[in-house]
Order: sequence, then structure tokens, then C-alpha cells
Amino acid sequence: MIVIPGSASPGLSQKIAKITNCEIASVERKRFPDGEMYIRIGSEIGGKDAVIVQSTTSDEKILEAILLCDATREANARKIIFVAPYFGYARQDKVFKQGEAISARAIARAIQANCDAFLSVDLHANTVIKWFTIPAFEVSAIPCVAGYFKGKKIDVIVSPDKGGIERVKRTSELSGIPYIHLDKVRLDGHTVTIKLPDYDFKGKNVVIVDDIISTGGTIKTAAKQMLDAGAKSVSCGCTHGLFLGNSGNELASLCTEVIASDTIETRFSSYSVAEEIARAISGII
Ligand code: R5P
Repeated sequence: MIVIPGSASPGLSQKIAKITNCEIASVERKRFPDGEMYIRIGSEIGGKDAVIVQSTTSDEKILEAILLCDATREANARKIIFVAPYFGYARQDKVFKQGEAISARAIARAIQANCDAFLSVDLHANTVIKWFTIPAFEVSAIPCVAGYFKGKKIDVIVSPDKGGIERVKRTSELSGIPYIHLDKVRLDGHTVTIKLPDYDFKGKNVVIVDDIISTGGTIKTAAKQMLDAGAKSVSCGCTHGLFLGNSGNELASLCTEVIASDTIETRFSSYSVAEEIARAISGII
């Protein structure tokens, strides 16, 4: 087996290669004078199982993913597994207003054209899996988040919205820390309102657990309200930390701890999903 590292996931690719004890491919990337992207896999991959690891965090990374899949197929890899630790565009998984594209489906179709299996971590909507006609799998970072906070002095795990109840329930089961949920209403891409439940936050050490931190609006609003309600400390843990704009710094000044996985590699990547991905890959190959 050989791991082909996408430019969005260099560290995680290295970790997966190390755990699975396999080589990592060299990839040449450049731009043509007109800005078009050039990809070349420099390592021999013919007849090998190839694992491409690329979080699709931006349009550029999606294009790179498509070219990596094509180059891998062209080089006659035996089986191609595409790992999107973070699968972007997952939020648009249906038509909300007539005339819209189903972006998650469009990206899934483009990627699967040249791979044999797909693997991701904590998909925003698990309906995304159904857009793949090749075998598609999902692993969860929840055990890692639960393990990180287990044994720390945390009184309650909080989901910022009803949609995250199953996530905090599972985190609670694995860590032994009780959970509650808040009620979030999204007003626009940057703004949310949060209603706190009938819970006494005074003196409590709280951890907010979410799947994605994007603009940070959700966590900032929730953290401020719980601190105003008397919480002693608020930390937050997520799988995918996009930390758009200055939100990383803002959250770091508000929260005691801000942790995210390495599905998106940032300074907040405090834990790795490499073991989970490696285990899943060994079940697919
Ligand atoms: C929403 O359903 C998600 O679980 C996250 O709460 C959301 O994506 C966070 O976005 P932001 O950081 O922009 O508030």
C-alpha cells in the first residue's frame, strides 16, 4: 500500500503511512502560466493499493483531489481509496430552494469517478454517503474527543443545538460526563441565537462539543452566554476546525481550551484521527 498525500493533509498522511507501515508517495505540484493546476505522482504506484488523503477544504483542494485520483488511476494502482478527512460542501446535501445544485452530490460524483472506495470522518450529514455509488464509509472522532476530556475536571458536555444531541450523548457514554443541549437558531452564515436550557451553570466547567467550527459564531455565542450564566470555564472540542477569519484567536481568548482534530491541520489540532482512519482502511483493503 502507498499513501498519496494531498496538500491539505500532509501531517495526517504521514501519520497514516507510519501506522500502516507503508510508503508515502512524492507529489509534484505546480501552476501553469495561466494558473491551471499541474499534478504528477513521482512514486511507482502501479499494482499497489493507493490511499489518497485530502481534506476538501476549498475549491482548490477539491480540484487537486480530482487530479490526484486521475493520476492514480492512470498509474494503474490496484485499488484506490480516497480519504477525505474533512469532506467540504457536505452542508448542501439537498435542494433547500428550487434551482439549487446538490453540492455534496456533485463533489461525490466528481471524486468517485476515479476511485474504488471513499472514507471520511464525521460527515456533517450522513446522507452524503448515499451520493456515492462506490463503497463509502465514515469513521468518528467522538471517541478521541471523549478520551481527551475524560478524567479532566469537566461537569457537563454541551451540544449547541438539537442536531448534535447524538454526538454529545455518545461523548457522554464514553467519558462518563453528563450532557445537555442548547437551542440554536441560525440567522445567517455568521450569526446565531442561543437559548440556554433550565440548567444551573454556576461554578461549572463546561465543554461544548460540535462537529465543525467554521466562523466560530456558534461556539462564541454559546460560550459567552454560559459564562454570563456563571459557568466557571468553557472549553470546546470539535472534529473539524476551519477557524475562519480571526475566530481561532477569538475562541482562544474566550475558552479555556480549544481542541480540534487533524482532519483540518491548524494550530488547534490537538488530537489525531490517524488511528481511526488506518483501522478503517485495513477493513476496506
Ligand atoms: C451546524 O449544524 C454545525 O454542527 C456547526 O454548529 C456549525 O457548522 C458551526 O458553524 P459556525 O462555527 O460558523 O457557527
